Amino acid sequence: MWLESQGVYALPRYDEVKSTLADDGTFRTGGGVSLNDHYNGLIGGSTFASDGERHAFLRGLVGHKLTPKALRPMRGQIEETVESVIDEVLTRDSFDSVNELARNLVMAIVPDFIGIPSDGRDHLIGWAAANFNCHGPLNDRAQKSMEVAGHMAAYATKLVDDRSAQPGGLAHCVLDAMDEGQVDREQAISLMIDYLVPSLDTTVTGVSTAIWLFSQFPEQWDLVREDPALIGQAFNEVVRFETPVRQFGRRVARDTEIAGVPIPEGCQVLVMFASANRDERKWDRPDVFDVTRNPADHVGFGYGSHGCAGQGLARLEVQAALKVLAERVTRFEVSGEVRTVNNLMRAFDSIPTRIRTN
Ligand code: HEM
Repeated sequence: MWLESQGVYALPRYDEVKSTLADDGTFRTGGGVSLNDHYNGLIGGSTFASDGERHAFLRGLVGHKLTPKALRPMRGQIEETVESVIDEVLTRDSFDSVNELARNLVMAIVPDFIGIPSDGRDHLIGWAAANFNCHGPLNDRAQKSMEVAGHMAAYATKLVDDRSAQPGGLAHCVLDAMDEGQVDREQAISLMIDYLVPSLDTTVTGVSTAIWLFSQFPEQWDLVREDPALIGQAFNEVVRFETPVRQFGRRVARDTEIAGVPIPEGCQVLVMFASANRDERKWDRPDVFDVTRNPADHVGFGYGSHGCAGQGLARLEVQAALKVLAERVTRFEVSGEVRTVNNLMRAFDSIPTRIRTN
C-alpha cells in the first residue's frame, strides 16, 4: 500500500511484515528505519541502523549480556526487586500505573543492569520517548523532539568520556571494546545510545499496558490469577494486542516485489508490527484479548536479525511484575487514563489506578 503523504510502501499484513524482516539483505535498516532523512543520518552506524556483517559485529559486542543464559542467574534478583517496588506502591490507596508502578520498577532494574551512574537517571525515560518521536515523519513532534533527544546523546558521550560505566554492566562492555580497539569513541557513544533508548520506555509501556488491559478485561485477569502458568503467554498477548512499538522503516537495496507489487530499489517500506499483530488473515478473532491463546509468533519484538535484543530482559521484568500482582490484586480499577501522543509508540502517559485485594 503506497502512502502518498509519507512516500513509503506500508506493509500492514503479517505475512509481508515477516518475510520483509527475514530478508535483511534486501530490506536494510541503514538509512531507512526512520521516516525522515535527518534522523536516519543522525543514527547512521548504530547497531539498529547498520546491516550485514557490521550489524552482527556490533550486536555481538554486548548482545551476549542479554541472552537467556546470561539473564538466568539474574532472575531471582529481578523478582526480589520487582516485589519490593510493587509492595511499596501497593501501600497507597491509588497510584499511577505508568509513572509510579511501571516506571519505578523499570528504573530499579534497567539502569543498574546497563551499569550507568546513579546520578542523572531521572530524564532518561523522557529522552527515550523523544528519540522515538524523532523516528516519525518530520512533523512538529519530531522536530521538537530532536533537541530533547540530543540530551541522550550528550549523556552517552559523557558516559564514554568520563568512563563512568559500572564494572560488570552492559555499558562497561562498550568501554572494554573501545579499550581493545574494536570500536572508536564515536561508535562507543552510538552503542551506548543503542541500549539506553529502547530499554526503558518500552518496558514501562509493557508493564503499564498489561495493567490497563487487565483492568478492561477482568475475566482475563481471573484466568491469570487462577493459573499463573499463563503469565508468559499472557504477556505475549499483551504485546500482540497493544503492540508498543508500532512500526519501523526499511530501505530497499534492490528492485523487488512484495505481494505482486513492484518495489523499486532505494525506496522505503514501513513495517507495521502493530497492524500485523491484528491481521485477521493470521489471527483467529484478532480483536479479542485472550490470554489462553499463545501468540508466541507475534512480531511485537520484531523478527529476524534486528529482532529485539532486549526482549529476554523485558520478559523477565514484566512477567515478574504480573506474578507479584496476581498474588496480591484481584481487580484493577482505572479511570482517566491518558494515551501518549508519540510518532512511534503506543503507550500511556498516565493510568490512575485503584486496586481491590480480595
Ligand atoms: C516491552 C519491551 C520492548 C519492546 C516492545 C521492544 C520492541 C522492539 C522492536 C519491535 C524491535 C525491532 C525493530 C526492528 O526490527 O525494526 C526492537 C529492537 C531492539 N530492542 Fe527492543 N523492545 C523492548 C525492550 C527492549 C529492552 C529492555 C532492550 C535493551 C535492554 C531493547 C533493546 C533493543 C535493541 C538494541 C534493538 C535493536 C536490535 C538490532 O537492531 O539488532 N529492547 N525492540
